[in-house]
Amino acid sequence: MILVTGGAGFIGANFVLDWLRASDEPVLNLDALTYAGNLENLATLQGDGRHVFVHGDICDRALIDRLFAEHRPRAVVHFAAESHVDRSIHGPGDFVRTNVEGTFTLLEAARGYWSTLEGEEKAVFRFLHVSTDEVYGSLGPNDPPFAETKAYEPNSPYSASKAASDHLVRAWHHTYGLPVLTTNCSNNYGPYQFPEKLIPLMIANALAGKALPVYGDGRNVRDWLYVGDHCAAIREVLARGRLGETYNVGGWNEKPNLEIVHTVCALLDELRPDPAGPHARLITYVADRPGHDRRYAIDARKIERELGWRPAETFETGIRKTIAWYLANQDWVAHVQSGSYREWVERNYGERRA
Ligand code: NAD
Ligand code: DAU
Repeated sequence: MILVTGGAGFIGANFVLDWLRASDEPVLNLDALTYAGNLENLATLQGDGRHVFVHGDICDRALIDRLFAEHRPRAVVHFAAESHVDRSIHGPGDFVRTNVEGTFTLLEAARGYWSTLEGEEKAVFRFLHVSTDEVYGSLGPNDPPFAETKAYEPNSPYSASKAASDHLVRAWHHTYGLPVLTTNCSNNYGPYQFPEKLIPLMIANALAGKALPVYGDGRNVRDWLYVGDHCAAIREVLARGRLGETYNVGGWNEKPNLEIVHTVCALLDELRPDPAGPHARLITYVADRPGHDRRYAIDARKIERELGWRPAETFETGIRKTIAWYLANQDWVAHVQSGSYREWVERNYGERRA
């Protein structure tokens, strides 16, 4: 079996669901169920013996040692993290704890377990660390996209904590020989994304007739990738990636935020017209994110060349699927917009008045 951390979150849940659609290899899913973790994402796996869920923290060394000893996973796919940049600005401590200390704990537990293995079991073991393009910093309009050789220049507490975790993973390979792989991916979107991130927030607010808060001038650029394509890339890297290597994953799909928001509005106008008028009337410019990175772009040639991975979705097909999913899963959105969600919205947007 494989051990997945953070498998009740957005990308982790998509990964677990896709994995078990494509294979019968069981998944041991370790997740602390923070505000971002949601067992509803995995509801279709209820009663499926191939999915073993453990409610626990990646900082809990005794628990992880026990999981390795009892389940003997052949690989770790490490998603668990605090993942939202704005939350990292309000409360960086959780990010250092989970992203740095948690990754360290997992690496040490994996190293301890791996060192007891022999022969084929030892040879096939993998530790795949899921990271982000944000570790590379911010690009100017004419800079080339991020290659794997780009120097790390993280600018937010979130990206700094992910950069630190990437460095630990690298060091555990060079120093101890732990068979690691790292992926650095661009912005994901798709089903089960928590409505604190740009695309699901815009969909949820537009459907509720609420303001669509665009930070700054709305011209910050991100490279968008459908979550299923990210999961496929991770499967390829796990299967055939070269040990100790990092692979950048991206959709060759750079778009300014304002264009994303207008696309969401236009699709909602088509699929769920609002009698009060076009959804774009709700766009509201608000105070910028402190330290807001201007542009991210990924050079994905290495993973394409070495592993033959390419995104299956274009932005046009992926965003249509995503909006259709949110329209069909309004109950899911309502459930995650609990009391603590409303507190977050007030905290983040209350001080950004238009
Ligand atoms: P998410 O916030 O939706 O989910 C994170 C999951 O980790 C949640 O289920 C949460 O309960 C769990 N978790 C948090 N702290 C934990 C802890 N201490 N112990 C165990 N579980 C814990 O995040 P996501 O968007 O799915 O991102 C997953 C990973 O992919 C992260 O490592 C993130 O840095 C990386 N990533 C995300 C994106 C993106 O666009 N979302 C892009 C590139 C990389
Ligand atoms: O690049 C990969 C990263 O993408 C991941 O590592 C992170 O986990 C993930 O959260 C994402 O980070 P971003 O900060 O790019 O994503 P977010 O959805 O928060 O914001 C996308 C852009 O939209 C960014 O330029 C900020 C802007 N924005 C965001 C929100 C929430 C707004 O204009 N208004 C908003 O309300």
